[in-house]
Amino acid sequence: MTDKMHGWQERVKTAEDRAQEESRQDGWRLKHHLMPPVGWLNDPNGLSQKDGIYHVYFQYSPFDPEGGEKFWGHYESRDMIHWRYTGAFLAPDTAWDRSGVYSGCALAEDGKLYIYYTGNVKQDGDYDYIHAGREANTILTVTEDGCTPGDKELLMTNEDYGDDMSCHVRDPKVWYENGVYYMVQGARDSRDRGCVLVFSSEDKRSWTRINVLRKEFLKAYMWECPDLFSLGEQRILSFSPQGLEAETFCFQNQYQSGWCILDGDFRETDGYVLEDFHEWDMGFDFYAPQTFADEQGRRILIGWMGMIECDYDNLPTVGRGWQHCLTIPRELVWDKERKTVLQRPVREMELLRAGEEQYRDKAELEWNRSEGLEVMVSMSGAAGDLSLEAGGLQLAYEQKSGVVLLSFADESGRGRKQRRAKIGELRRARIFLDSSAAEFYLNDGETVISTRFYPEKESLPLKITVENGTILVYHLKNIEIDRI
Ligand code: FRU
Repeated sequence: MTDKMHGWQERVKTAEDRAQEESRQDGWRLKHHLMPPVGWLNDPNGLSQKDGIYHVYFQYSPFDPEGGEKFWGHYESRDMIHWRYTGAFLAPDTAWDRSGVYSGCALAEDGKLYIYYTGNVKQDGDYDYIHAGREANTILTVTEDGCTPGDKELLMTNEDYGDDMSCHVRDPKVWYENGVYYMVQGARDSRDRGCVLVFSSEDKRSWTRINVLRKEFLKAYMWECPDLFSLGEQRILSFSPQGLEAETFCFQNQYQSGWCILDGDFRETDGYVLEDFHEWDMGFDFYAPQTFADEQGRRILIGWMGMIECDYDNLPTVGRGWQHCLTIPRELVWDKERKTVLQRPVREMELLRAGEEQYRDKAELEWNRSEGLEVMVSMSGAAGDLSLEAGGLQLAYEQKSGVVLLSFADESGRGRKQRRAKIGELRRARIFLDSSAAEFYLNDGETVISTRFYPEKESLPLKITVENGTILVYHLKNIEIDRI
């Protein structure tokens, strides 16, 4: 610990060091998913690459695995396989962010990261904290090494968002395009309708609201974590709407995250159209994703593998002092013909493969959860049914209905029951099984389903059956995490 450390840095580090000592006996710790060193993690923040180094910041409550005061934690890596945890990066230590350093982004420019985030302030008093009593400050801090933030600069307060907005405006995402900087922020307007505010700036510091993006038939009261980007020629708006009603095959979670094609000009009041809303992930544990373009030009998405206010839990890890994780980084690919976005685990994940076994139609093995697995199923010829069972976790695809069902036959789902997705024909499935997390990528990432799960036994029977297909099982090495 250095003399220069702030009081909060010391407190966080002490909590992290203690957790590291205890982690050896913790069988739920993840092998190829990023998790908090201690305490609670939610949204990925500040995703970026600068001078070859990937930066993954995250919403972090180090002192309470069930949430609380929000900090930012920070991981960095050159290959998204070997990571280094560098400590807490931002703390709620000013009057502008004293109730929480909320979500935000990083703009990589001139060898620096410009970090924009929301400073949350809950005023003392008797308020609803929606239309009164809350401040959402847009704050900038610049970092050269990714680990040490510069001074915090207050750029915007609620007055700058417009008097047609409630107090809920947050999660700035900034990009540069043709000589202009743009920022989107998620919002709840004064009539409780979700929307996205668009701002522009010439100098990264002084911002003007230029548009409000809405989708008339999407009945959500708040849109969080917006992200506007292009995949090839196609502009996509990603956001996390709150308040949608559940339907049989969609919106089954408490809160949603998804994307729409944005046609036209996002800067013009009547000049754009948001097409249909598609969910990023149909599983139990996914929310608030963010994307970034890496130095190779790939658009990569990472989501929070968690959910709040739901009827299932993660108490096994809470008992170990931590909760939640991030998804595997997913490369986004625009499928022009089908007008859809495919999500594929970044190819660096293949570096984890350590050995493989091949099966036809049926694979039965004993899976020791201390080691991650990747399973690839390819249907030969016409699609048939598929089923995968890992202890009580079951994924079943029925060819007749074109429906895939994720369910639990035992208590390992901790209250998670069923999730369904209508996918039509199933041609391929790629599955990542981690000690307490699973991600299912169906049809090259056209549909993705993610869940946490908590089997009691360290070793589980794994059974995969497919009508007429090949099954490849890869044993995975762990991602490596160093600390400073
Ligand atoms: C989404 C979110 C963001 C907010 C952050 C606070 O999960 O509610 O809108 O900035 O979490 O942790």
